[in-house]
Amino acid sequence: MTAEPTSARSQARYDAETLASLTADAAAITARYPDPRSGLLPMLHLVQSVDGYVSRDGIMFCAEQLGLTPAEVSAVATFYTQYKRHPNGTYTVGVCTNTLCAVMGGDAIFDELSDHLGVGHDETTDDGAITLERVECNAACDYAPVVMVNWEFFDNQTPGSATELADRLRAGQDVAPTRGAASVCSFKQMSRVLAGFTDGRADEGVGAGEPTLAGLRLARAAASVDGAAGPEDGRRPAPADGGGKPAEVPPETGTAQSSAERKPAAPGDAAPGRSPSGGPAKPEPEKKPEPEKEGEVDD
Ligand code: FES
Repeated sequence: MTAEPTSARSQARYDAETLASLTADAAAITARYPDPRSGLLPMLHLVQSVDGYVSRDGIMFCAEQLGLTPAEVSAVATFYTQYKRHPNGTYTVGVCTNTLCAVMGGDAIFDELSDHLGVGHDETTDDGAITLERVECNAACDYAPVVMVNWEFFDNQTPGSATELADRLRAGQDVAPTRGAASVCSFKQMSRVLAGFTDGRADEGVGAGEPTLAGLRLARAAASVDGAAGPEDGRRPAPADGGGKPAEVPPETGTAQSSAERKPAAPGDAAPGRSPSGGPAKPEPEKKPEPEKEGEVDD
């Protein structure tokens, strides 16, 4: 295999139409941030929405758009499991095998699916339909064991229901998530949503399920027993004495809040070797040893 000249691979190679579309979308992403390089994560999802994975061209494109080196982009793309380094299937079927789901049957579901599909973790079926994955906790433990298809929830699964789900996906039949959107889109479509371009389906389907609502009711009942029942939306009430902000008030943001800009408020806020005012810290006075009292005897 002949190595390509470096100059030939120093730029992303998309056809003119794709490049124009990607560039317009990249501009929309960077416009969201004070510093364009903050848009790298959604931009990686954007190139996945075109290529089906983070391709070499995708890495070059992100680097060119954000003034980064390809190595810097690759370092981020290889850190997060949602970024794929090889072509992904139309559907990522992720089986939660974190502790709770595992003991509730997640491990058995993964093994059954792996046997049924003939692929292991992060491998794709021959027809390109399904990439099977073990995934970490999806914050849906009250519905364990959970399977996700392109990050849509399929709750309380069994080995049988999961293989039936996979078969329907491979056959191109509709499947309905337990909660959230009413149907499952493709990996590329989902990647575009993760890049921050809405598909208008955010309010589809079921929101919170019954186990989650049961937990909310228990929390309210407990608060009521304590004499501190919260408002109907379940948020924490503001302190009665007005001594602080309610929990739902978002913290202020901006450079003035960064640790570099913040004025030290207490001695412990100062960096080692600096005083709270920012100047060099005064050295601690040396302690003199206490004189021995008359009559004391060493052991
Ligand atoms: S352990 Fe599976 S969703 Fe939390």
